[in-house]
Amino acid sequence: MSNTYQDWARRNFELNGLDLSRHQLIRADVFQYLEGAVQEGRQFDLIVMDPPSFSNSKKMRDVLDVQRDHLWLIDHAMALLASGTLYFSNNLRSFVLDNRLLDDYAIQDISNQSVPEDFRNRKIHQCYRIQHKGA
Ligand SMILES: C[S@@+](CC[C@H](N)C(=O)[O-])C[C@H]1O[C@@H](n2cnc3c(N)ncnc32)[C@H](O)[C@@H]1O
Repeated sequence: MSNTYQDWARRNFELNGLDLSRHQLIRADVFQYLEGAVQEGRQFDLIVMDPPSFSNSKKMRDVLDVQRDHLWLIDHAMALLASGTLYFSNNLRSFVLDNRLLDDYAIQDISNQSVPEDFRNRKIHQCYRIQHKGA
């Protein structure tokens, strides 16, 4: 949703020689985007979801609270994947993944593999690889 991050993304595509005419950069509130994409029946191979711990902005319908909202976000992202993979990360020290997700999906905690070596506090980073069971 941030213009700054969109600009960085555009610059990174250019710096890496990736053709922007073959990719879309979409600026949207994640709640509205995911709801629309699920309704339209869109499908993806890979989703990387890296939400902030908390955010609010006039551009958003509601505040985003990753502890409160992660079930909704993950369920909606998983509805867009048939056999693909969701990588879900956050940096909320107190974050606890809801147990219901462990029943519904095949989930691997890959936090140790995904935290950069120079990250200021390795303990707050959490990252999960999520797929449909049997996918
Ligand atoms: C932790 S950062 C993502 C960092 C990014 N993965 C990277 O490596 O550069 C979280 C991002 O979520 C965006 N954000 C916050 N609330 C949002 C919302 N409701 N919808 C869409 N994006 C949102 C913020 O603007 C910020 O760019």
